[in-house]
Amino acid sequence: MEPYSRHVLVCTGGFCSPNRQGRALYSHLAQLLEREGLLFGPTRVKRSEAPCLGVCGSGPIVAVYPEGIWYSGVTPTLLERIVVEHLRGGKVVEEAVFHRLNG
Ligand code: FES
Repeated sequence: MEPYSRHVLVCTGGFCSPNRQGRALYSHLAQLLEREGLLFGPTRVKRSEAPCLGVCGSGPIVAVYPEGIWYSGVTPTLLERIVVEHLRGGKVVEEAVFHRLNG
């Protein structure tokens, strides 16, 4: 497997957000990662969809590892900020964080 720097998990289940908004986010994420140059090389970001991340509310839910940062209520606009500010820039979008690993 190619090296990667971060792994983004997107819940595409139907309990945390209506109308499966997570599915649209997951597709949009691929475009954003490509645009920001995060699909290849040492800064590569892996993405995965999950049927449920055990939150089941206030979605869509997106988690970023290895930091273990969990975002809720992720709109397309917020997803773009997460990609640009967090995944590319290394700065967590604090106001959208609802949980942290060991936090
Ligand atoms: S359905 Fe999204 S966290 Fe459970």
